Order: sequence, then C-alpha cells, then structure tokens
Amino acid sequence: MEFKHTSVLLHETIDNLAPQSGGTYVDATFGGGGHARYLLSKLDKGNLIGFDQDQYAIDTAQSNFAAFLKGDSQPRLQLVHNNFSHLKEELAKLGISGIDGIYYDLGVSSPQLDQAERGFSYRFDARLDMRMDQSQDFDAYQLVNQYDQKQLADVLYRYGDEKFSRQIARKIVERRRVKPIATTFELVEIIKEAIPAAARRSGGHPAKKSFQAIRVEVNHELDVLQASLEEAIGLLNPGGRISVITFQSLEDKIVKQTFKKYSEVEIPRGMPVVPEGIKPTLRLVNRKPITASEEELAENNRSHSAKLRVAEKL
Ligand SMILES: C[S@@+](CC[C@H](N)C(=O)[O-])C[C@H]1O[C@@H](n2cnc3c(N)ncnc32)[C@H](O)[C@@H]1O
Repeated sequence: MEFKHTSVLLHETIDNLAPQSGGTYVDATFGGGGHARYLLSKLDKGNLIGFDQDQYAIDTAQSNFAAFLKGDSQPRLQLVHNNFSHLKEELAKLGISGIDGIYYDLGVSSPQLDQAERGFSYRFDARLDMRMDQSQDFDAYQLVNQYDQKQLADVLYRYGDEKFSRQIARKIVERRRVKPIATTFELVEIIKEAIPAAARRSGGHPAKKSFQAIRVEVNHELDVLQASLEEAIGLLNPGGRISVITFQSLEDKIVKQTFKKYSEVEIPRGMPVVPEGIKPTLRLVNRKPITASEEELAENNRSHSAKLRVAEKL
C-alpha cells in the first residue's frame, strides 16, 4: 500500500537520538514510517514501537513493514493504534517501563490532506470531517455546526491566528441558521465572504488559517501534547533522548517550555542556592531549534515551518 509522505528533518531527528543497538525506541506519530525506516536501518537489533491514531497509517504500516512486524528481520517493530496521550499505558501493556529514545513528528500526514474524503483540505470538496482518528465521534461538522459564535471565534483566533475570526464566526452562525454547513467547499465560501476583498488578495488561501484551527481543535492537538511529553520524559532511561518536530508556534512553545521545566532546577523558596543533590532531569541537546537546510527547504514545502528540539535524560 502506498503512503506518499516526505519526512521532514529526517536525519536530524533520528541522528540526534543517537540510537543504540538493542535499545527500545518509540515513534509517537508513525504516519508513513519514513522516520521509522531510517531509525530501523541504524539498529542491528532492538525494538521500535510505532503509535498512530489514524487507522490508514496503521493499515499501510502492516503491509509496508511486514518483515519487521513478523520478526523476520532484526530489529522488531510493534504498532499501536492509539493516541500518544496513552503512551505509558500502552507501553505497560507491552511490558515496557523504560525507553531509550522517542520522537514526535507532529501535525498531519500528506495522505490525510490529499485524500479528499478525509475532509481536511480546502482544496477538495468533501464532508467536513478532519478526524485523524476515524473512530472518534467529534468531527469538524459538529464543531462548525454546534460551537457557539464565541467558541468559534476563539478557536479560529487561538489556533489559526485568524485576524477575521469574529467576522468568520458570525457568518458561520448566520449561514447555519438556514441549513447545516456540511462540506469543505461550503465552509470555504463562507470564509471568503467574511474576509474583506482586499485582505483576501494578500497572503495564502483565505481558508488556510481557519482550516488549520478547526483541525487542531477537532483533534485536541495541543491539549494532549504536554502531558504526553511529560510521560515520555518520565519513561526515558538515563542517556535516552527525545526529539520533537513542530509545525506551528503554539506547539513549539509547549515543547520549549516543557523541556525548560525539566532542564532547569528551581531554587526552593527561602533557599539562597540550589541544595546539593537537586539535579535537572533533562539536558538540552540544542539550545536553538534545528530547522531545515536550504536543500530541504527547496525540495519540501512542509519543511518551512518545521522546528526540531532535542533533549537528553540525565
Ligand atoms: C507528520 S505525520 C508523521 C510522518 C512520519 N514521521 C513519516 O516520516 O512518515 C503525523 C502522524 O501523526 C499522527 N498523529 C498526530 N497526532 C497524534 C496523536 N496525538 N496520537 C497519535 N498519532 C498522532 C497522524 O495521524 C499522522 O499520521
């Protein structure tokens, strides 16, 4: 089965994990397994556990990584169809309580955007959906037709940085009084009508920011990230590393602040210095985020907004 997706910051993400033979690794966002394949090529033995909440990613991995799954080749791969918010619990089911490395490549995969029926893209007409996990009940149709005007405006502003969030929210509420907004193209039309003509001519597609915002809300993308990173840090063995690729500033802020929290020690109130024995949990491998090379920027448009942060468990 084909899974057309070009991995971003491929070598930077995996090489910075410094993979060790025989180690246990986690790919929190398996997708098409581009990062996974490269990691597996660097290990002569060991284990990789790949998480994805998207059934299509899991199904394609079953056929594309069959040899690793059956154990015909070393190292072995195991797949988990679940949200990475259940990291610790799912690893415990596999008898794993410590890992040597984990990486996250956040956001959507190309098939999610390119398969019209997934309803993620303003480029194709489809039912409003945008669920990464097809078994989830809540979808973009429900969000667009059930959130009140303020909730809609808040989502568009917070997750899409959409300047015209209030105008778009008002127009959505007006329109759905007549009939429910069912498709991506209906929503695109409403967004276009809500944005003043002059503003529509500059920047990218007028629906880009709103679609991104709705997707983030539908999939609770920011809600689950920090707790999962904290679980991952707790699971890492000493010397183990965590790499995280983000594609938008709110995600990057969560990663940066979580790494900061665990790489600095707080001086307890009333104490002049850090008492002996209190040590940070993490060491930052790179102070500034790693971004794509000129070559990658030229080849892969998605790499433009990518930022990679890496830390090591002490
Ligand atoms: C950018 S793609 C990963 C691509 C992959 N690294 C590769 O090289 O092919 C992100 C994937 O993560 C999955 N995903 C996003 N958030 C998730 C979450 N909270 N839990 C599990 N999977 C998630 C998506 O379904 C998608 O398949």
